[in-house]
Amino acid sequence: MALQKNISLKDFNTFGIEISATYFLIVHTIQDFLKVRKYAIFDQFPILILGGGSNILFTKNYDGIIIKNELKGISLEKEDDENVWIKASSGENWHDFVQWCVDKGYSGLENLSLIPGSVGAAPIQNIGAYGVELKEYCTAVEGIELASGKQKVIPASDCKFGYRDSIFKKPGKNKFFITAVNFKLNKHFIPNIEYAALKDALKGKDNLSIPDVSKAVIEIRQSKLPDPKKLGNAGSFFKNPEITQAQFKKLKKNHPLIVAYPLENGNCKIAAGWLIEQCGWKGKKLGNAAVHNKQALVLVNDGNASGKEIFDLSQQILESVEVQFGIKLDREVNVF
Ligand code: EPU
Repeated sequence: MALQKNISLKDFNTFGIEISATYFLIVHTIQDFLKVRKYAIFDQFPILILGGGSNILFTKNYDGIIIKNELKGISLEKEDDENVWIKASSGENWHDFVQWCVDKGYSGLENLSLIPGSVGAAPIQNIGAYGVELKEYCTAVEGIELASGKQKVIPASDCKFGYRDSIFKKPGKNKFFITAVNFKLNKHFIPNIEYAALKDALKGKDNLSIPDVSKAVIEIRQSKLPDPKKLGNAGSFFKNPEITQAQFKKLKKNHPLIVAYPLENGNCKIAAGWLIEQCGWKGKKLGNAAVHNKQALVLVNDGNASGKEIFDLSQQILESVEVQFGIKLDREVNVF
């Protein structure tokens, strides 16, 4: 648990950006963390807790303390005839945790297979894919308040989960070290295959099992999304924007093929990948930063790109989508 100085973060961010951190510390237990929290430098430098580094873009060296979270452990807390209550430590790899649930026959998270990152990062942006969001199965988030060192359990109802959003973003950003996430999963399999691509992939398959759905999700992801080990990326770089029905009607007149999903509040979510593709960005390269050729929402490090190159590309995309469609995209990835 030694404090290291001037460490390269290239292997700790899935964009593979070569930058360094002034201080770097690997934490294996909660006790470790509580001990080091008392070091004087904790009052002098900003702290950034890093899980899988899969939703982050570093544009410059990080002049602060990076805490690499290696808290491990998954436990069955409680069960009844219908459900299991599982606690997963935040440093566990998300996909490995999902596979653990799939192997045990616990249903709920299978649609979230192969999402890169750690368990602890999952509630921060309320990860979601193929019709399921973490908030549907999360019961509570445990952690340590950085300022006071107090351990807290935050029930899911207080986490303000929204689309790629939670209390741990904006107001709570970097104020809380998430140590574990609690879930309530189903013992009986209830497939959720409403997402069109998933329904198609499983068409004609009888007696669906949890591994069937997990496998189909993995195949869809692998066909569209680049493997960060081979091509640096952080998944969707932007969020799908929400617009009003009135805005949508106006846009649809000029762009009849626009891809949109109705929301319960009457608004529409627009496929940002479609907007970006229409602006001609899909597969385009600027310097060493590029827009993925199979999914325009994903920006990739196509060489030794700097974080600034990727950020500049994202800025140009934002501007052109705004000019062409009057829609301002939001970055999903955290930029430092
Ligand atoms: N589309 C295009 N061109 C593109 C990409 C998408 O036209 O280059 C259109 C197509 O019509 C496609 C539709 O957009 O059918 C939706 O595409 P996709 O199913 O790939 O989903 P997405 O809306 O682009 C979101 C999430 C992904 C998640 C998928 C599946 C966000 C920001 N992204 O992408 O999440 O895997 O749905 O549920 O909500 C991530 O957050 O990192 C991520 C990968």
